[in-house]
Amino acid sequence: MAKNKPEGYLTAKESRKISKENRRITNQFEKARKRRNVPESEYMTTMHNADNAVEFDNLHTYFFTDAGTVKSVDGVSFDVPVGKTVGVVGESGCGKSVTSLSLMQLIQRPQGQIVEGEIRLNLGNGKAYNIAKTPNEKMMNLRGNHVSMIFQEPMTSLNPVFRIGEQVNEVISLHDGEGKSKEEIKARTIKLLEMVGIANSEGVYQMYPHELSGGMRQRVMIAMALACSPRIIIADEPTTALDVTIQAQILDLLRNLKDKINSSIMLITHDLGVIAEMADYVVVMYAGRVVEKGTVREIFTNPSHPYTIGLMASKPVVGKQVDRLYSIPGKVPNPVDMPDYCYYKDRCEMCVESCSGKYPGEISLSETHKVSCYRFYDRKEEK
Ligand SMILES: Nc1ncnc2c1ncn2[C@@H]1O[C@H](COP(=O)(O)OP(=O)(O)OP(=O)(O)O)[C@@H](O)[C@H]1O
Ligand code: SF4
Ligand SMILES: [Mg+2]
Repeated sequence: MAKNKPEGYLTAKESRKISKENRRITNQFEKARKRRNVPESEYMTTMHNADNAVEFDNLHTYFFTDAGTVKSVDGVSFDVPVGKTVGVVGESGCGKSVTSLSLMQLIQRPQGQIVEGEIRLNLGNGKAYNIAKTPNEKMMNLRGNHVSMIFQEPMTSLNPVFRIGEQVNEVISLHDGEGKSKEEIKARTIKLLEMVGIANSEGVYQMYPHELSGGMRQRVMIAMALACSPRIIIADEPTTALDVTIQAQILDLLRNLKDKINSSIMLITHDLGVIAEMADYVVVMYAGRVVEKGTVREIFTNPSHPYTIGLMASKPVVGKQVDRLYSIPGKVPNPVDMPDYCYYKDRCEMCVESCSGKYPGEISLSETHKVSCYRFYDRKEEK
C-alpha cells in the first residue's frame, strides 16, 4: 500500500506520528497560556502608530491537525486605523475568519494556535495589548468592551431558547452592568434596539429569535455587538444571509453607528460591491497571506496583484455586457503543503521569469499601496 499510495494519503502510522508531534507542540503553547499571574510586561506593548486601532504584525495562526499543519494565516500584516473601515477580501478558505478570530482569541484550541507575530490592540491611553500573548482573564474584559464581532448567521449566534431582551440584557450586565438596576439595564436594551432601527422595540424585547426576520435578527446582533461601544467591530460577512435591500439598510446602519461611537470596522466579505461602498482601506488575502493592500481607491482603480485583477474581472459591472463573467482558473494550493514559491503561481496568467523564485516580498507602489508580486520587482526596491 505504501508504495503506490495516492497523493495526500496518510498511513495510520504516519497519522499517529503527526498526532503525537501535534500534542507535543500544542501542549507547549497551552502550558504557556495556562500560567497564572503572567507579568504584564509579557503582553503589554505600544502601538507602532497611535492612530491605529489594531495592528496585525506578521501574524501566523496554525491548526495542528492529524492530516498535518494547516497554515491558515501565514505572516499577515495590516493596520486598522481609528475611525476607519478596513475591508478584507479573498477566496473562501484564505484565512479571513481565522485572522479576525485570532484578534478575539476565539481560535479553536488546542489545535489552533497563534505561533508567531503580534496583534496590537490600542487601549487609547498610550498602551496596547499584544493579543497573541494576552492571558485568558484579560481577554474576557477586552471582548465586548474593546472588540466585538458580528457573525454571518445570526440564528446560530442567538440562543433560540431565550427571549431577545434577556440576551441583550445579559451582554449589558456582563460588560457594563456594575451598579445598574434591572430596570436601567432593560431601558438601555430598549434604547439599543431602537438605535438599530427596530420599531417595535418593547414587543421585540419579549420575542424569541425564531419570531424575528433575518434582517431583524442581524439588527439584534449589531445591537449586542455595539452595546458597550467597542473600539473595533469585526463584521464577518454580516449581510451574506440577507436580501439586497435589507443588506443596504444594515450596512447603512453599521456605518452610522460606527461614526456615532467613533470605532473602527474590520469588514470581511466576498462582495466587492460592499467593500467599494463601505471601506476606506482594502486588504486582499490569498492562501493565508496578504497579497495586496491599499486605499479603496488604489485597489479599485489600480489593482496590481494578478489575483486582485482576477477578482475585479470576475465581478459584474452595471452597463457592461459580457457573454460570460471571468472566473479565475485553478484552485488554491493545499494549505497543509504550501509551495515555497508564489502561492498564486499555478493559477497566474501574468507570470514573469523570476516567479519561480522564493515567495515574493512586499513592494510599495505608494505609501499606502503594497503588493507582493514579482511583476513589480524591477520598478521598486523590495521593502
Ligand atoms: N478548526 C479548524 N481546524 C482546522 N483547520 C481550520 C479550522 N478552522 C479553519 N481552518 C482552516 O483554515 C483555513 C482558513 O479558514 P477561514 O475560516 O479563515 O477561511 P475564510 O477566508 O474565512 O473563508 P470563508 O470565506 O469561506 O469564510 C481553511 O483552510 C480552513 O480549512
Ligand atoms: S509573483 Fe509571479 S506568479 Fe506570483 S502573482 Fe506575481 S506574476 Fe503571478
Ligand atoms: Mg470566513
